[in-house]
Amino acid sequence: MVARLIADRLQTDTYQVEAAEPYPFSYDDTVERNRREQQQDARPALASPPPALEGYDVVLLGSPVWNVGAPMIMHTLLDQWDLRGKTILPFVTYAVSGMGRVAQEYATLAPAATIGEGLAVQGEEAAQATDEVSTWLRRVGPMLQSNR
Ligand SMILES: Cc1cc2nc3c(=O)[nH]c(=O)nc-3n(C[C@H](O)[C@H](O)[C@H](O)COP(=O)(O)O)c2cc1C
Repeated sequence: MVARLIADRLQTDTYQVEAAEPYPFSYDDTVERNRREQQQDARPALASPPPALEGYDVVLLGSPVWNVGAPMIMHTLLDQWDLRGKTILPFVTYAVSGMGRVAQEYATLAPAATIGEGLAVQGEEAAQATDEVSTWLRRVGPMLQSNR
């Protein structure tokens, strides 16, 4: 929902991160699978290959917060991309923990990228996040200017 708000506003290209093996419908089963994947530092497979990043300077990278970090499939994604010299703008939905350690994880996975200011939206507020998204986009605007 938040990604759609951002993409509509900026008219960006989008790529939806989906697991080749879909996560269970049940919340508890998903928590359990994520816990296992984090423990194993797993790289769950993507359902479709990510787009090439040539021609892009800025990547707005969105996910829910899972156990205070990014879902491990975001690690799979960043492993596959060369983000040298690019800017990552992280955005998340969460229940209670805010951004958690998502931005630090991205900095570790893409050490030669610049990590810009992130946006954390509470999941239940996602549908009403238009103003929050607009305020954030105004703040990170100068970083977006460099997008070709
Ligand atoms: C596996 C899993 C782990 C989660 N871990 C956290 C967490 O550490 N901190 C947090 O604030 N929310 C956590 N959540 C809640 C999600 O961030 C939240 O469900 C998501 O952002 C979507 O929001 P919504 O379900 O209210 O629409 C977790 C959810 C799942 C499924």
